[in-house]
Amino acid sequence: MRLKTLVVAAAGRSFFAPGGAFVLRPGRKPWAFLLQGRCHAQNPFNRLTTHRVVRTESETFPGSEWIVDAPDYEPQMRHALSLAARGRGWVEPNPMVGAVVLDPDGQAVGEGWHQKFGEPHAEVHAFVQAGERAKGGTLVVTLEPCCHWGKTPPCTDAVLRSGVRRVVTAMADPFPRVAGGGVQLLRTAGLEVDVGLCEPEARQLNAAYLKLLRTGRPWVHLKWAMTLDGKLATRTGDSKWISGEVSRRTVHDLRGRVDAILVGRGTVVTDDPLLTARPPGPRIPARVVLTRSGELPDRCQLRATAREFPVIVWTAAGNEPKLAGWAADGCEVIPLPTGDAGLSVDAVLAELGRRRMTHVLVEGGAAIHGAFLDARAADEFHVFVAPKLSGGAAGLTPVGGNGVARMSESLPLAGFTATPSGEDVYLHGYRV
Ligand SMILES: NC(=O)c1ccc[n+]([C@@H]2O[C@H](COP(=O)([O-])OP(=O)(O)OC[C@H]3O[C@@H](n4cnc5c(N)ncnc54)[C@H](OP(=O)(O)O)[C@@H]3O)[C@@H](O)[C@H]2O)c1
Repeated sequence: MRLKTLVVAAAGRSFFAPGGAFVLRPGRKPWAFLLQGRCHAQNPFNRLTTHRVVRTESETFPGSEWIVDAPDYEPQMRHALSLAARGRGWVEPNPMVGAVVLDPDGQAVGEGWHQKFGEPHAEVHAFVQAGERAKGGTLVVTLEPCCHWGKTPPCTDAVLRSGVRRVVTAMADPFPRVAGGGVQLLRTAGLEVDVGLCEPEARQLNAAYLKLLRTGRPWVHLKWAMTLDGKLATRTGDSKWISGEVSRRTVHDLRGRVDAILVGRGTVVTDDPLLTARPPGPRIPARVVLTRSGELPDRCQLRATAREFPVIVWTAAGNEPKLAGWAADGCEVIPLPTGDAGLSVDAVLAELGRRRMTHVLVEGGAAIHGAFLDARAADEFHVFVAPKLSGGAAGLTPVGGNGVARMSESLPLAGFTATPSGEDVYLHGYRV
């Protein structure tokens, strides 16, 4: 990281902003003030650039010495992250990536994001927009540029051709054919490359991609709707409808961005769900059913539509003959060796991961939620709470399974939010 020293000078009252101090850089005489850990400096060309304070010798001024890395590309990186997010659902199993190209004066002259699997990467779109103005400038990109031939040429070629002198990237790409090779190649070619700006945000954005690479398992979303008194269904098993229209739209949007929607036999029998995204989203999710017994109804929506939208049924080895009709109607039936317990959640996820599925949405019911929670296999939670009470000790609660013995063993959530969703409340969080 290149460091420059700024010395606090002449911090007169007129130069004082709340939480900030003006500083003077020897030689070029720009001024700057510190505000919320960032340093805004005006250079001799009267352009405001942003620098990040990485260390100060004293928190008070005047007379302090400030050490900042220069310049700071955090605003551009945050913008690149927001561009990257536009690819959600379109690019998987690739990562979402966004890029901004700055000219030598720090002006944004190009931006782009990876828009669709198999199509050009973010950097390529940004360089096309920037054209000649990229020469001598900087590429700000949310993931290390790739250095291998995949479905498209290596992005490092495009970086070198563009003429930028500096690359700022949020994180290295752990994809085995990249894994630091892109950064290395660019540094060897003489470019200045910084890695790590906004890395936590970049990791959060591509958490599913990173999990699939690390573990071979997809990212698992658990979703349910419940009444205010915590019921998934009434004592008769009826659950249509708990949540309102706005919440159901959110769920359909989520469905259209995942690779698979998974339910247990109980939900197929009771609800006869279709499990499609309506309206359709960027992906067509496979519909997955887990049934150890293989006792699925002969007539139901899943089976009837299996030739339009894929259906995969996992069952205990030996029970496949019970599902011969399902197989004949176009469903894939996969046997799994099993004992008395239900089907192994991990074995199912390993197979979905082998098929390069990045996101799986688990939509119930209680026993299946419990199995995923007991296996500590859930990564993200979407819960819709409706302003109604159905009561009854026999009414199902959302999560069955064994659960934990002590409250201290419960699964804590991070990034927990509660948002109004029509008349409901949408609770959302991640496994820590
Ligand atoms: N409010 C909501 O958001 C919502 C969503 C979905 C469902 N529901 C409601 O939930 C109810 C159904 O829930 P449920 O708990 O009865 O059934 P379920 O969770 O849908 O299905 C349970 C079945 O899944 C199979 N299974 C396979 N592997 C398993 C494993 N490892 N662990 C547990 N089960 C495994 C078993 O089938 P085999 O017996 O064949 O082995 C088991 O009986 C319905 O009333 C439905 O309306 C509500």
